Amino acid sequence: MRIILLGAPGAGKGTQAQFIMENYGVPQISTGDMLRAAIKEGSELGQKVKAVMDGGQLVSDELIIELVKDRVKKEDCAKGFLLDGFPRTIPQADAMKENGIDVDFVLEFDVPDEEIVKRMSGRRVHAASGRVYHTVYNPPKVEGKDNETGEDLSIRADDVEATVRKRLGIYHDQTAPLIAYYGKEAEAGNSKYVTFDGTQAVDAVSKQLAELLG
Ligand code: AP5
Ligand code: ZN
Repeated sequence: MRIILLGAPGAGKGTQAQFIMENYGVPQISTGDMLRAAIKEGSELGQKVKAVMDGGQLVSDELIIELVKDRVKKEDCAKGFLLDGFPRTIPQADAMKENGIDVDFVLEFDVPDEEIVKRMSGRRVHAASGRVYHTVYNPPKVEGKDNETGEDLSIRADDVEATVRKRLGIYHDQTAPLIAYYGKEAEAGNSKYVTFDGTQAVDAVSKQLAELLG
């Protein structure tokens, strides 16, 4: 099963990726998590992208395409994968096609901007695993601690309101055109395209996903 999760920052891609990974056994490929891990390691890649990410801008297509091309070749992707945060520009989607990376499903989460701004202020993350929480909508069992490891949760550097609004602007300009792009792909029979109402509760969205994926 090869899946793309599409949606604005904060639409719930990472949250539902966790559900799909746990229930369908496909690895999550989150370009955002990969880049944040590189920053934490202090690698050359991390040093290159830190300022861009903290400012809420997109990293260059070339860099991201190389990252994903290498990642999907790994053994754990043989039976499928879940792309979270990629592609997010038309050139990235074109590069997938050029490299023969097909997908079965494109799943879009639709959430209005104002709801997203509210959500991001309460987001807490376990950076090492990519697990995502919300202080009100999806709280951890123990405040400020990851459910699995008990380690401290943190706030992402790009979750400041002004940066969230900038990321939303970039989403509408550069990523939202992929909705029409993958709509056409679906009409051509290349993949299925399904939109979910991402304003529903986390469990309600997961339930609809399970109905679709079987
Ligand atoms: P990335 O990490 O991909 O961030 P993003 O796309 O902005 O998405 P988010 O992770 O912010 O949101 P999400 O949809 O995963 O929401 P979540 O589930 O966490 O990218 C970060 C940066 O990396 C980019 O800005 C860019 O610089 C760079 N980058 C990455 N990929 C790139 C690419 N392909 N090209 C170029 N640059 C790239 O949920 C958010 C919050 O809401 C959480 O608190 C959660 O608990 C809560 N929540 C989730 N679902 C619900 C619900 N149904 N009801 C209530 N609350 C909910
Ligand atoms: Zn995410």
